[in-house]
Amino acid sequence: MATKRAREIQEIISDLELLKLDSKYREAAEINIGFFKAARSVFSFIHWLFFVGPKLRKNRESILELGDLPLEKWQRRGYKGLASIERHRFAGMMSSGFVRELSQIILKMEEIKDNNEPVVVLDLGFGGGYLGRRVFEKLLDVPLVYVGVDIIPVNLELAKMVFRPLHKAGEIVFREVSVVSDEVIDTLRWEANDASKKVLAVCLGDIFDLDKYVSPGKIDIICHSRVLHHIRPVDRSRLADICRRLSPITVEMDDCYGFWFKFWAIIATWAISNPALLNGAILSCFRDPAKEELTGYFKLVPPFSYVRLIFGQDIYPQDEKWQTATQTLVKGFSFKD
Ligand SMILES: C[S@@+](CC[C@H](N)C(=O)[O-])C[C@H]1O[C@@H](n2cnc3c(N)ncnc32)[C@H](O)[C@@H]1O
Repeated sequence: MATKRAREIQEIISDLELLKLDSKYREAAEINIGFFKAARSVFSFIHWLFFVGPKLRKNRESILELGDLPLEKWQRRGYKGLASIERHRFAGMMSSGFVRELSQIILKMEEIKDNNEPVVVLDLGFGGGYLGRRVFEKLLDVPLVYVGVDIIPVNLELAKMVFRPLHKAGEIVFREVSVVSDEVIDTLRWEANDASKKVLAVCLGDIFDLDKYVSPGKIDIICHSRVLHHIRPVDRSRLADICRRLSPITVEMDDCYGFWFKFWAIIATWAISNPALLNGAILSCFRDPAKEELTGYFKLVPPFSYVRLIFGQDIYPQDEKWQTATQTLVKGFSFKD
């Protein structure tokens, strides 16, 4: 009798076979079908990891994870699995460096602004809100307006489950907004001041639409964690341009490609028997940059990740004050052209 896992893999393969008929997704569907056929047994999976996966890396721009494909059932299964493992200690460790670095940048920005106004942070590809929640716990006394944007509805459902209880308990103000615009940011900032509480807002939307409604300088910090590998290379530079235009500083957080990361990702996700999550954990590894490829201001953070700072253009006057602030922000970061 087939196990639940085997049945699920078979169901995924059947859905991918149908998706393959759409030429837009043919290549991605084929890669994923190969992945799931291999994931039927440990032996074929190990073979795939050592002999097929590394070849995909040569053309890593064309890799799409199951969660990036228009298959809602499997997006749900994958992201729900991700949300549940994020609560565990091992997964917590995987993001501790991001929480620490982002919190540091927020504190420095608060000091630079020096006006008692909340720091406005925009988290692109918010997921289930795990990073935001940990930043809130770490920066208890810092006035913050934190806005999370994500394109996949199930992620916002998960985020609402996390933040609504905090709102009901009177610890934060939680809002759901239909668009991130100048007016919305002003209202959220006013609410944070009025209630003397942190404000967390979520928005279902595409991060590439942001600059339609937000003016440069309305946001203090843009951040995104583990989002780049979902975005095509041509769109990555578009995203960086949007960030440069809108915010004085963007904190990019992602993982570096490496054997040990892959190894632990496999052990963790194989053990919890969620094929959709296993797919995201492994394919995302093959899409990650090698640490030698990092440029600009970056810092490697344990265990296998990096944080990169991208500075905005013409948002603040490029005077001595901002030059000094920049030096404070990049302290501890390396620079490579
Ligand atoms: C691997 S998850 C990371 C979630 C979260 N940032 C974290 O670190 O746990 C990547 C997220 O990016 C979101 N995403 C990808 N492309 C997006 C887009 N164009 N607009 C908004 N969100 C996007 C996905 O829906 C997903 O929630």
